[in-house]
Amino acid sequence: MPRIKNDLFLRACRRQGTPRTPVWIMRQAGRYLPSYRKLRERYDFLALCRSPELAVQVTLLPVYELGVDAAIIFSDIMVLPEAMGMELQLVESVGPVLASPVRTSHRVDELEVPDPSKKLGYVMESLAQTKEELAGRVPLIGFSGSPWTLFCYMVEGRGSKDFTWARRAIYTDPTLARKLLAKIADAVTLYLRAQAEAGADALQIFDTWGGLLGPDGYREFSLAYSRRVVEGVSDLGVPVILFARGAGSLLAEVAQAGCQVVGLDWQVDLGQARELVGTKAALQGNLDPVALYASVDAVRAAAAAVLSSYGEGAGHIFNLGHGIPPDVPVENVKALVEFVKEESRKYHRVPER
Ligand code: CP3
Repeated sequence: MPRIKNDLFLRACRRQGTPRTPVWIMRQAGRYLPSYRKLRERYDFLALCRSPELAVQVTLLPVYELGVDAAIIFSDIMVLPEAMGMELQLVESVGPVLASPVRTSHRVDELEVPDPSKKLGYVMESLAQTKEELAGRVPLIGFSGSPWTLFCYMVEGRGSKDFTWARRAIYTDPTLARKLLAKIADAVTLYLRAQAEAGADALQIFDTWGGLLGPDGYREFSLAYSRRVVEGVSDLGVPVILFARGAGSLLAEVAQAGCQVVGLDWQVDLGQARELVGTKAALQGNLDPVALYASVDAVRAAAAAVLSSYGEGAGHIFNLGHGIPPDVPVENVKALVEFVKEESRKYHRVPER
């Protein structure tokens, strides 16, 4: 394996000093990029995910076009439920849809904990090939949905504002909910281990929907299962980022889950989060994605505010507070990345190596 030349992201994950703040963007390979839209004219989304050759190409687009400090493998959190035995489709204007949602004990029993090298071999192949193509330019991130976030989609069958079926399940049949969450956690653990073995330099767990739960529900049905996953990969020595959307006042507890980095949404104050988390973890985030619709000057001002809110010193990875919207001007995104790279030097005293 070639040595990673730009290791700013990995150093920041470990809270080591860097001459500037590393930056990457959640969903950085997506529709706001004209080059991505062009590929999508020829291939449907799942075809891009399933073809290692195409997935590698898409993964690299933002690395070359934006100059981000990390690549994230092009795939989707929904490929794991599919590998567990559910039928997946991407429906125009609805998003991903899983046929026959899991709402009975019998359906839970039918799901399998897949061997990732078999059912998800195409993801491992994409990772290995991307690693080769990157030739050590920047680190490569592998990812999965958190058990709770996957549970939401598997019980609901599709995206939803409030995931009523999923949330109901923890009250109406908590035993069944726990049984399904435990099974998903086992599948996620194996899946992330396989990604690290295939070449991922860091792993991100997307807990997009934890914030739908109350504090006790969050601890019991979201955080407990994410922690299980983090513990299940900790021996690999690969940094783990837990994107804890909506965790708000529970951030200190999230940071105790054993992850190296806590990912923040845009609704928390980064400076306050830093105080809450202390030296337990690095922080990733948290520009409001919608800020990218404004003028380049306004984007720069908003990014400057994020950097200033974190303040001086190590342990910050610049990102958005959620995925990038599909229709923001690509020039703004380029300007953002450039600006963060330059402006963040103010906050670091580590010389360039
Ligand atoms: O970050 C990256 O560039 C890697 C690729 C990536 C995708 N999805 C590609 C994608 C990642 C990391 C994800 C994660 C994901 N997928 C999450 C967690 C993060 C988050 O945003 O909350 C969730 C909840 C999903 C499920 C999902 N996939 C939804 C709800 C949708 C439909 C909404 C939408 O944005 O279209 C998708 C489709 C999807 N996943 C697209 C992309 C590029 C758009 C597909 C297209 O080209 O039409």
